[in-house]
Amino acid sequence: MSAPHIVAIGGTLRPESSTGRLLGAALSLAEARGARTTLLTGPAIAFPHYEPGAAEGHEEIARFLEALRTADGVIVGSPGYHGTLSGLVKTMLDYVEQLRGDARPYLDGRPVGLIATAGGWQAAVSTLQALRTVVHALRGWPTPMGLAINTAEPDDCVDAARPQMQLMVDQMFDFIDR
Ligand SMILES: Cc1cc2nc3c(=O)[nH]c(=O)nc-3n(C[C@H](O)[C@H](O)[C@H](O)COP(=O)(O)O)c2cc1C
Repeated sequence: MSAPHIVAIGGTLRPESSTGRLLGAALSLAEARGARTTLLTGPAIAFPHYEPGAAEGHEEIARFLEALRTADGVIVGSPGYHGTLSGLVKTMLDYVEQLRGDARPYLDGRPVGLIATAGGWQAAVSTLQALRTVVHALRGWPTPMGLAINTAEPDDCVDAARPQMQLMVDQMFDFIDR
């Protein structure tokens, strides 16, 4: 198989977004295993509320959908806002509806790594669980290892997450290589 395409989506609009940094770090691990990668975060995922047809003539949305169509694996990252995924990330995921008529609809058949950040463990875990629920609805396959990251901990969150992140990325490759 040619180099798998791993697409990471999510994060926040903050330039220093920890969720965005974690997504980038996960892609670095995927690149080390030979993947070609695409990161879409910040303004690249700031879409208007979804309505059927809302994607028409919107360059960033077209780029997002094309990245997912060609993805062999996807990584989704969200901050926990009030105990669940942020509106920004949920609206982005709403646009996956545009792929419902594809030969490979939604995230069908693809492994999906998940990264949830929050200022405490409770929201990190509940957000990870919410992301799993959405990915199941989109016919994706969440990896057994998902990352619940407490960004209020004193350690650098990327360094602290790296061992679990490696396992998550390895599980994505195991799925792709089946
Ligand atoms: C609107 C809003 C709601 C939040 N709600 C929660 C929450 O319910 N529980 C929690 O632990 N942290 C909460 N946080 C903190 C963020 O989840 C946390 O700072 C996250 O790591 C931010 O991600 P970022 O660095 O990628 O922007 C909230 C932050 C904002 C801005």
